[in-house]
Amino acid sequence: MDDQMNSILLCINLLLILIIIPVPTVLSQERPMAPALLVFGDSIVDTGNNNMIITTVKADFPPYGRDFQGRQPTGRFSNGRMPSDMIASMLGIKDLLPPYYAPDLEDGDLLTGVSFASAGTGYDNLTAVIAQVFSMWDQLEMHKEYRGKLVAIAGEETADAIIRESPHVVFAGNNDILATYFFSTIRQKTFDLPSYINYLVDAATNFVKELYNLGARRIVVFGLPPLGCVPVSRTVRGGKNRDCVDIYNQAASSFNFELSNSLNQLNVDLSGSRIIYLGIFDGCCGTGEFEASISCNKFSPCTCPESETNKYIFWDAFHPTERAFHIVTAAVQSQLLNVFR
Ligand SMILES: *[C@@H]1O[C@H](CO)[C@@H](O)[C@H](O)[C@H]1NC(C)=O
Repeated sequence: MDDQMNSILLCINLLLILIIIPVPTVLSQERPMAPALLVFGDSIVDTGNNNMIITTVKADFPPYGRDFQGRQPTGRFSNGRMPSDMIASMLGIKDLLPPYYAPDLEDGDLLTGVSFASAGTGYDNLTAVIAQVFSMWDQLEMHKEYRGKLVAIAGEETADAIIRESPHVVFAGNNDILATYFFSTIRQKTFDLPSYINYLVDAATNFVKELYNLGARRIVVFGLPPLGCVPVSRTVRGGKNRDCVDIYNQAASSFNFELSNSLNQLNVDLSGSRIIYLGIFDGCCGTGEFEASISCNKFSPCTCPESETNKYIFWDAFHPTERAFHIVTAAVQSQLLNVFR
């Protein structure tokens, strides 16, 4: 089967999937469920922090943001809103979660939360060094600085209450496994796959402990999606039929298994904490080729015609469409809300 035929069949599959899965409506309540939302991680939850730095990992140009309010590229790596925005809406806080480094943040924006995420980053510090973006540890420093701003606005007691009561959502690990381990092979010189996965799980666990030390009590950590089925993986290692890459899926799945065990243990060890692991490994589809970040621009053939964007799972070679994000976020809503139990 040639590539084009294969893509057409995939698209038909996706179309069927999107038609039969109804999108549950998100809660809309009068009172927000938490004072703020604070988000850490990579491009899946970055809402524009990388706009402020010199890196190739950026999305502040068309066609990114094509279906965003006002059709603006904002640094979000999709056609519309990101999971960080959707979770903020789901909690009744606000519809868009601004990046911490937005130039025009007002007190009210800070009081209701921001995203510290930086596209291209990962739990492995080397991942951020390679991409020249903020590491997960930089994001913890940003959180400390953020607390200082809250104190200046509302006083110490309120600042600490906001941090204690607000969900801290973490989504990372994608770039460590795909980019740093498999594509660049740089970590393969010192780690085999199981030991690299242990290393990442330890780093993720330490990250959560640090959040706890900074006063966070409600912490939600996303597991990884089936990384072998994202378009870039299928293009690089999927052979001529662009199949899903088993070894990448297995890596993501063992990371998830170990991470969820480790987080269960932390939940017991860190008193007064509520730590939730959110699995999103189901669903496995993709089209598209290499167009991610700077190679997805207005000159590249984007993966689908404009009016058709909502029928696709993937927007570029790595990032889902707004609609796909919405389906996943809605599907994990009830689990996520367990962080308030
Ligand atoms: C990453 O860097 C930070 C800051 O330099 C350090 O504290 C942390 O231990 C490093 N993490 C790993 C997994 O090496």
